[in-house]
Amino acid sequence: MGLKLRRAWSGTAAVVTLIVAATALYSDKGGGKPDRDRIPAATRKEIQSVELEIDHIEAESLNRARQTTLDRFQQITLLGKIIFYDQQLSVNRNESCSFCHMPETGFSGPVSAFNQTTVAYPGSVRTRFSARKPQSHTYSAFAPVLHYNPEQGDFVGGQFWDMRATGLRLESPLAEQAQGPPLDPVEMGLIDPGCMVYRMSQRPYRAMAEKVWGAQAFAVQWPENAREVCDRPGPAPGGNPLPLHLGAVDRGIAQTTFDQIAEAIAAFEESPEVTPFSAKYDSVTAGKAEFTPEEKAGYELFRSKATHCNECHRDGGPGEEPLFTDFTASNLGLPRNPGLPFYEESVPDKLGYTANANGLKYLDPGVGGFLAGPQNPNHEWAAMARSYLGKYKTPTLRNVDQRPRADFVKAYMHNGYLKSLKEVVHFYNTRDVLPACRAGDRGEKVTCWPAPENPDTMNRKQLGNLKLSDKQEDLLVAFLRTLTDGYPLPPK
Ligand code: HEC
Ligand code: HEC
Repeated sequence: MGLKLRRAWSGTAAVVTLIVAATALYSDKGGGKPDRDRIPAATRKEIQSVELEIDHIEAESLNRARQTTLDRFQQITLLGKIIFYDQQLSVNRNESCSFCHMPETGFSGPVSAFNQTTVAYPGSVRTRFSARKPQSHTYSAFAPVLHYNPEQGDFVGGQFWDMRATGLRLESPLAEQAQGPPLDPVEMGLIDPGCMVYRMSQRPYRAMAEKVWGAQAFAVQWPENAREVCDRPGPAPGGNPLPLHLGAVDRGIAQTTFDQIAEAIAAFEESPEVTPFSAKYDSVTAGKAEFTPEEKAGYELFRSKATHCNECHRDGGPGEEPLFTDFTASNLGLPRNPGLPFYEESVPDKLGYTANANGLKYLDPGVGGFLAGPQNPNHEWAAMARSYLGKYKTPTLRNVDQRPRADFVKAYMHNGYLKSLKEVVHFYNTRDVLPACRAGDRGEKVTCWPAPENPDTMNRKQLGNLKLSDKQEDLLVAFLRTLTDGYPLPPK
């Protein structure tokens, strides 16, 4: 009898255990202050060292800003960098963009313990986690404004896994993306776009910003309760998007400055500091270095009909940079990742906010969710929502292996279900060959795969049964490792 019960329940039990383990890592008893005691010491240390590094980069950048010899390009990109590393611009003054995007991981998540467990990172309100993995934003600057290409029969461009930062309003998907996290309740958590401008007006780099944008940038009549309103995490009760009471002209100034903040961040992300084309791969194509025999064999496989890799992760072409993405979306048939704390966020938190009313029933809708929802700017696109359920934008493969040390874990795919490049390649190779895992199967990810989260729109043509040997899988991984920026050129 015991056995029968175990069979029936072990699936759910496994999900529950994983979630408990994941949230125990970073839980909260009150007031937005994390309950540090329940975080394992090693994780706590990792977070602290990231926070220290952020402060260090911020201080160094502020120092550089004092130089009077910066040209306009340097001023704008440095301003964007300072904003990107400024923790004071989040509701609890504890989270900059870089908390989830640091250089040592190719501007993706810098905490190995999170990548291994929760995948998602806590917001400024530390009990709130989003549903997805922080993407690397290196080379994101090349994504075009989201459009539908009728010949290809595909959406192309935009930012985020689901393309929802279209770029239509500012003619820049990257700048529009930068306006998302500050106002996202599970990320930086500000209650009103004006709060970003208000907070910045009190920062030591205000004068530098005024030099770049003009003296009007912060010339806003702030209401007396601005500080109090901006210290409250969003969303505002009743869903009011603009709870800070500003007159029409002041609102206009604040919005314009908010747009310029976003454009400065985009300029930083686009600059050679973030997007340098300095991988071993680039040195090899420029004739300045050579692949090892393994890397070369891996590259040949990557470009071959046997794998189809470069059909989506394009390695350039006439007039085209090798960005290792074509900015279209696909559903690879990944299973859900029960480790995401998002599944647990089904009851109101202490501030009355519920991140995920569907709880364990939540299905990540991908691009289809964006097309079906209120953020879709184009009525004609809405009709295609169903066929884009569970599809995600193809990420660049540049910097997929960038990590600060060999035992640092990175999570892969939108939900971070896969934890190494070997697992990624094994998934592409064997998704349709290996049997479906049974509950609690020890061979998960090696000899079996769980069912896909969204089977209906899954790509069944190009992947799932590549017939690669174990050795060939390793060769592909060896090639992917040549895409890490910062490859030292040999001295001449
Ligand atoms: C709490 C963690 C967190 C913080 C803070 C954060 N991000 Fe992200 N970032 C993510 C996640 C998660 C995604 C993917 C979200 C999605 O697809 O829904 C993402 C996606 C992105 C992308 C899209 C890349 C692409 O190729 O589509 C860019 C660019 C980016 N972030 C930049 C920023 C900037 C700029 C800030 C600060 C204004 C910021 N992030 C703050 C977690 C974070
Ligand atoms: C049909 C288009 C397509 C093909 C073919 C394809 N990919 Fe992908 N790749 C994607 C998409 C889309 C994602 C993101 C999927 C998701 O998160 O759900 C992805 C994700 C990845 C990632 C994870 C990146 C990250 O930052 O998490 C790696 C690594 C990768 N692919 C390598 C490969 C390799 C190697 C091949 C060939 C064996 C390949 N891909 C073939 C579209 C494709």
